[in-house]
Amino acid sequence: MIEAISLTKMYGTKKGVENISFKIDKGEIVGFLGPNGAGKTTTMRLLTGFLYPNDGDAYIERNSIIEKPLIARKYIGYLSENNPLYEDLKVKEYLDFRGRVKGLKGKELKNRIDYVVEKCEIRDVISKLTGSCSKGYRQRIGIADALINDPPILILDEPTQGLDPAQIYHTRELIKSLSVEHTVILSTHILSEVEAICSRVLLIQKGNLIFDGSLEEMKNAFKKNQVLDVTFLCDETKGREILSSIKKIDRFEKLQNEGEGGSSFVIYSLEGEDIREEIFWKCFEERIPILRLNEKKKSLEEAFLKIISEESKEEEIQ
Ligand SMILES: Nc1ncnc2c1ncn2[C@@H]1O[C@H](COP(=O)(O)OP(=O)(O)O)[C@@H](O)[C@H]1O
Ligand SMILES: [Mg+2]
Repeated sequence: MIEAISLTKMYGTKKGVENISFKIDKGEIVGFLGPNGAGKTTTMRLLTGFLYPNDGDAYIERNSIIEKPLIARKYIGYLSENNPLYEDLKVKEYLDFRGRVKGLKGKELKNRIDYVVEKCEIRDVISKLTGSCSKGYRQRIGIADALINDPPILILDEPTQGLDPAQIYHTRELIKSLSVEHTVILSTHILSEVEAICSRVLLIQKGNLIFDGSLEEMKNAFKKNQVLDVTFLCDETKGREILSSIKKIDRFEKLQNEGEGGSSFVIYSLEGEDIREEIFWKCFEERIPILRLNEKKKSLEEAFLKIISEESKEEEIQ
């Protein structure tokens, strides 16, 4: 249904996203998760044809976004990040206008407006100016707009951003109910949002896709093992002997030394184990100096920690 192949977007010399590839099947509800500035909006704008890639391509129902952008776009309903509405139109006029832009008219248009008004629960504000609606309503009006021509795919950029807890709950329930009939992609920098709604997560960090799978798989991958980079002042054989004697080490590999002397290794601990202390004491016993010991943060772990820290900041604000 959606296939992105090596999508790359540069803003001048600044990287938006690089080499992003994924496939999304019909009926999935997928979360683009990543800290602010990761490249979620850029990816969504590429899929929806608002941006043109520097490299790569994407197919929406087999239509290339480069070769058949207008056809590709028809399959997608898009709630953009800042959700611009024409503030001086009444909600009903706005939906009527948006429906016409998307090629609906007459009875069909009327039926679709009725449907999205019910579905998104915006009946109460139908005669109000969009500009005077609360943020929660504005977001639902944006989703109603995305839905109006009944597209099979919905792309929602941070749909609950800036909403209060009750509005967040409502919007999430709405998105879940939409996923019965639509393939949904949403973006968020909040882990619990993915947890509440999505069946699959694409984790984006610094413009790269660093994980694609279920949330459970992502958490397991994050927990796995500690990776250390060490240099001992001894020969390779002695270094191997020391490491082999530590039970919490799963495996290790010899590294090329970069002119610093001694023997360097990359070490992987067993799941959930911190092995730094044990390495220290073992070397102490053997009278082998440690020249260097670095914990290597994996990109997945880095992304995860960043997301968690942003999430806790947000909770403080609320
Ligand atoms: N119009 C733009 N001009 C220059 N840089 C941009 C523009 N839009 C986004 N970027 C940069 O591209 C990167 C990805 O941004 P974005 O896709 O908006 O991330 P996210 O939606 O995950 O917060 C960021 O480093 C951002 O500063
Ligand atoms: Mg964004």
